[in-house]
Amino acid sequence: MTIPYPNTQPVPAIAAVTPPSGASRPRVTFLGTGYLGATYAICYAELGYEVLGFDVDADKIAKLNAGEVPIHEPGLDELLRRNLAAGRLRFSTDIAETAAFGDVHFICVGTPQRADGMGADLSYVEASVTSLAQHLTRKALIVGKSTVPVGTAEWVEQLVGKHTPADLGVEVAWSPEFLQEGFAVDDVLRPNRIVVGVKSEWANGMLYAAHKGVFDLAATEDREVPLVVTDFATAELVKVAANAFLATKISFINAMAEVCEASSGDVTQLARAIGYDPRIGNRFLQAGLGFGGACLPKDIRAFQARAQELGAGEALRFLHEVDLINLRRRTRVLQLAADLLGRRSGPAGPDLSGTRIAVLGATFKPNTDDVRDAPALAVAALLHKAGADVHVYDPQGMDNARRAVPELSYEADIAEAVTGADLVCVLTEWADFRNADPGLLGDLVAGRRVVDARNCLDSALWTQAGWEYRGMGRP
Ligand SMILES: NC(=O)c1ccc[n+]([C@@H]2O[C@H](COP(=O)([O-])OP(=O)(O)OC[C@H]3O[C@@H](n4cnc5c(N)ncnc54)[C@H](O)[C@@H]3O)[C@@H](O)[C@H]2O)c1
Repeated sequence: MTIPYPNTQPVPAIAAVTPPSGASRPRVTFLGTGYLGATYAICYAELGYEVLGFDVDADKIAKLNAGEVPIHEPGLDELLRRNLAAGRLRFSTDIAETAAFGDVHFICVGTPQRADGMGADLSYVEASVTSLAQHLTRKALIVGKSTVPVGTAEWVEQLVGKHTPADLGVEVAWSPEFLQEGFAVDDVLRPNRIVVGVKSEWANGMLYAAHKGVFDLAATEDREVPLVVTDFATAELVKVAANAFLATKISFINAMAEVCEASSGDVTQLARAIGYDPRIGNRFLQAGLGFGGACLPKDIRAFQARAQELGAGEALRFLHEVDLINLRRRTRVLQLAADLLGRRSGPAGPDLSGTRIAVLGATFKPNTDDVRDAPALAVAALLHKAGADVHVYDPQGMDNARRAVPELSYEADIAEAVTGADLVCVLTEWADFRNADPGLLGDLVAGRRVVDARNCLDSALWTQAGWEYRGMGRP
């Protein structure tokens, strides 16, 4: 039956459905136990669901079953161990077991940028859905959580139709995900909204039952979690539209930083002043090194590519500019480094040979170990390419950074990274760096010069301690 859409309701009136397994609550599986899927599997067990996490990466699954979280996400370790011990949570590489277990299967595999263009690589979605569908022996709901181009859910529905007998009645839904690394546990347990794209009352009911733990937790905390029930296309678009908006907001303030740099304005004061207007707001309005990570950059590119395919490319042309503003911030740090070190730039950029530079930060933001498309690591690589001897320290991202950019030197702590440095670049705003004592660090370096690429240091304090300080978009 078709239900009216869009249907936005804080307290939904949705008919109860019985899970096909006969269990009182739907049994849930998460296919792909990376940043998204592992966090979800663990948090849903914490909410009381019986959960099975599936991945093709046997090492990852072995770690998870041994109580070891393969990523750095605050609070997740303890929840993993507690729920493994409670018997509600397990992990497997066996797709037949996964198919047999679940009533609701969440697809959480990666959708990276394609190697040959800006579009999203859907091969992991295709592989996971196909293998799951081929092993299903009863009715189930397959729910996409990965971020995908609009139209993917319809395509997944066709794939499922191709690989499951029609009489099983397997259905598809899409529920995009908004968690932020570093806050992922709270974002999953206490989301600011849930969006579902469904085609039937049954799918709507199953998804409601699969989220009931979240609604129940909210009720005990006297909160409401708004639920937006909509069609496939809108659900898919909600996610990329949200990321496009956030990326635009960051690039807007970084564009203002560029103008401040040309006119000796101070973008930090400008941002504060405009952010007091509630229509603008001050969140995501910090000028600095720009956005990175496994989501915003590839999502705005895939969005443009998909809009182009649909004949709506003009509408998203501004996202190209958003991307360029963002990438220009990386070369700005290189320029500031050259200025502070008294090196001139030639046509191939500055020559930094013979200098030693400490890079503080490798992850794309604090409180994660994720270095995918991390601006910090990209800048460290640029400094290295310009000839500098680069020494990196990051509180959690060292292993991933070393694998991604092995040609840099990696140090055990801040002190080792800055010892003998001609310049310190703070590229990720970890609390350890924000709170570092400029006096103590000043005793270790060869020259008191600092680039604060995240505008996260107290510039007066550093200047008083004898440092030559450069921020982003600041005089
Ligand atoms: N990381 C985030 O903060 C975040 C937030 C919102 C949305 N998303 C979206 O969620 C999706 C996953 O992102 P992620 O950061 O967790 O990626 P990830 O790379 O950390 O994890 C993907 C996992 O999928 C596994 N996988 C690959 N092929 C598989 C298959 N055929 N079957 C089962 N598992 C398979 C990989 O081994 C890996 O563990 C992406 O679409 C991303 O855009 C991510």
